[in-house]
Amino acid sequence: MNPPATITFDGRKQNPNDPNVCSYYFLPDELKVVRGEGVYVYTEDGRRYLDCSAGTFNLSLGYSHPEVVEAIRDQAGKLIHVTSKFQTDPSNALVRALAEVAPPGLTKVHLKASGGSDANEGAIKIAQHVTGKSDVISLFRGHYGQTIGMIQASGAAFRRKPFTAQLPGMLHVPDPDCRRCFYKQERETCGLLCVERINDFIDYASSGRVACMILEPISGLGGNLVAPDGYLQALRKLCDERDIILIYDEIQTGFGRTGHMFAADYFGVAPHMLTIGKGLGGSGMPIAGILMEERLKGVEGYHINSTYGGNILASAAAVKTLEVIRRPGFLENVRAVGKHIMDRLNAFAPKVKFISNIQGAGLMIGVDFVDADGNPDAKLTNHIANVAQDRGLLMRTSLYGFGNAITIRPALIMTHAEADEMLDIFEHLLLDVAEGRA
Ligand SMILES: Cc1ncc(COP(=O)(O)O)c(C=O)c1O
Repeated sequence: MNPPATITFDGRKQNPNDPNVCSYYFLPDELKVVRGEGVYVYTEDGRRYLDCSAGTFNLSLGYSHPEVVEAIRDQAGKLIHVTSKFQTDPSNALVRALAEVAPPGLTKVHLKASGGSDANEGAIKIAQHVTGKSDVISLFRGHYGQTIGMIQASGAAFRRKPFTAQLPGMLHVPDPDCRRCFYKQERETCGLLCVERINDFIDYASSGRVACMILEPISGLGGNLVAPDGYLQALRKLCDERDIILIYDEIQTGFGRTGHMFAADYFGVAPHMLTIGKGLGGSGMPIAGILMEERLKGVEGYHINSTYGGNILASAAAVKTLEVIRRPGFLENVRAVGKHIMDRLNAFAPKVKFISNIQGAGLMIGVDFVDADGNPDAKLTNHIANVAQDRGLLMRTSLYGFGNAITIRPALIMTHAEADEMLDIFEHLLLDVAEGRA
């Protein structure tokens, strides 16, 4: 048995050699959050922060949305858990609502996942089962989760570097990053070479048995990078021609983030399968799943399952979340506030030298920062995020701090006034950084 522990939650003060001390495995930020409401969180010592990242990009309805809280409370009084072998009112209602909002053709709903990583793994399992093939294509800078399988699919080597386990059959191809095209092309004349070249990867770098391709239609970790015009159409065509299941990871882009229900709707191109998570939980309930074409059914339930998959409390929250998102005016607000933020940022950008690009869709916006030579500047980007936090804005940077974009993905209920409050602080601090005051 361990000796009685002196608990410290501040790893910085802890003596690692003292056997009586226990603490977090990792080192959390010093902020201790006690309450959240809408786009704001409040700390124990009374500070208020405007969260520009909607928690972990998952609080589509913001902190503690009253209707979601009420739905959870109501359901908790009736039933919190039953094995997912059985139907329940919340899970039936959720399947029905998801089928109603799903992109064309995606009529089958799989709800036995609780997080995005296992939804993605489930989608890949289904693709492998249905096609009888093995390999998975994914994009540079893509992010699909934290399990060993999903870090393997991930398009960033730093995620795999500390771990020895390797899964074969994961094929990474250049993403459509027109800011610095892998093939050194210009979009106007490239003919979407980045799609064309995927044929070469399939023919020469794969096992010859490619089951599926998974990608985020807007790359979150890549700095909210929007796929260029025609890219998804061309990809869908290639996948259809080569019998490859096209999977959109809409764990970030789903449920209104782009100003449309799904990024598939924003681009007007449906995949064969689509994974969901994050925003579906409304104010943070853990729920994830897979939407797919009817022909992809057939994998037994016990192959894709988890104890908390399709959790009833989370399903009740999700049903309410979908109801709110589907109300008249909700998605219009996302588009209008997103455009307002974009317009203000574009008008501001020429005032400082270090903004190289602003990209995004709806309330999924990225601002890229570069050094004096025009090269991506992750150090400056992280500095800006730190100054922002000192001034009451919670902002995240791309590629887990290794990237050069500040990502703005607030709760979808953000108002114009809240957007202006965020931008006033942001623009002011950017001027201070530019002029050496911060
Ligand atoms: C695009 C994308 N896919 C998958 C995941 C994994 O989801 P989860 O953390 O719920 O497993 C994330 C999480 O950040 C994500 O952003």
